[in-house]
Amino acid sequence: MTDAYENEMRARFGLDVALGGEVPDSPWLRQVLMRRTQRRYSDRAVPDALVRLLLAAAFSASSKSDFQQASALWLKDRGRRDRLAALFPEMPWIGAAPVFLVFLGDARRLDRIGGLRGKKQDNGALEGFFNATVDAALALQSCILAAETLGLGTCPISVLRNHIAAAAEILELPDKVFPVAGLCLGYPAQQGFISMRLPLEATVHVDRYDDSRLAEAIDGYDRRRDARHSIKDRQRDPARFGSAEFYGWSEDKARQAAMPEGAGFATWLKAHGFTLDEP
Ligand SMILES: Cc1cc2nc3c(=O)[nH]c(=O)nc-3n(C[C@H](O)[C@H](O)[C@H](O)COP(=O)(O)O)c2cc1C
Repeated sequence: MTDAYENEMRARFGLDVALGGEVPDSPWLRQVLMRRTQRRYSDRAVPDALVRLLLAAAFSASSKSDFQQASALWLKDRGRRDRLAALFPEMPWIGAAPVFLVFLGDARRLDRIGGLRGKKQDNGALEGFFNATVDAALALQSCILAAETLGLGTCPISVLRNHIAAAAEILELPDKVFPVAGLCLGYPAQQGFISMRLPLEATVHVDRYDDSRLAEAIDGYDRRRDARHSIKDRQRDPARFGSAEFYGWSEDKARQAAMPEGAGFATWLKAHGFTLDEP
């Protein structure tokens, strides 16, 4: 039925999205459209068997060239977790989540396989880094969707890269293995909220890339988001940027991007096996 996802589309985009025809009704897709990050978890334990099931789903993700360049680190040791969490006091869910995984880009394994088969080839070029990153990201999102399917909540954690040297030392990462993101996992303690997305007009291009109407798409999106959940009282760094009369998503993200994260990551990668050059 055409309007099978009407409520979900409105929740996700703050708009009526016309699909333009009959589509199958899938309860799972409804759940995907309503998905959300969760940062507070109940005390309900997550059994190891369940984590293994989610990891199996994670590693069912597609993989570039079947190279399988993702790995996961299941951080069970309390001491190590506490040391990692202490690096990010502004994100207490890193230490508090019942389960903490780290999805790793792993360019090392293919290097080692080359060595095992007498065809040693350095996998530290941009291609190796990029393929490993994509594989890890796909495994991460597969894990997220699998967890949400079973009623668990998750929160990816890329701030690990903001203290990359300390995080890599705590996790004992060898060269050519790097965190794409951690993943907090547990049963949600609250409902959470759906983060509205940009309209498909801004993110989907047909036949040729065309962002000529970006400004109006962003303005409309800012207003819809603001009507649902205003952030006007949480303006970033007013001392630097002043106080905006209308403070929407785009103003917030422009300010956030003007204070870039990830300083030192490229340097760390280059000191740990990656040239990031042409192969
Ligand atoms: C790769 C990646 C890294 C993220 N890193 C963090 C993080 O370090 N800390 C955090 O609280 N949330 C993090 N998030 C969660 C995002 O803030 C969240 O996905 C975004 O606000 C959209 O919300 P939604 O997932 O509920 O739709 C991350 C998400 C992704 C995909």
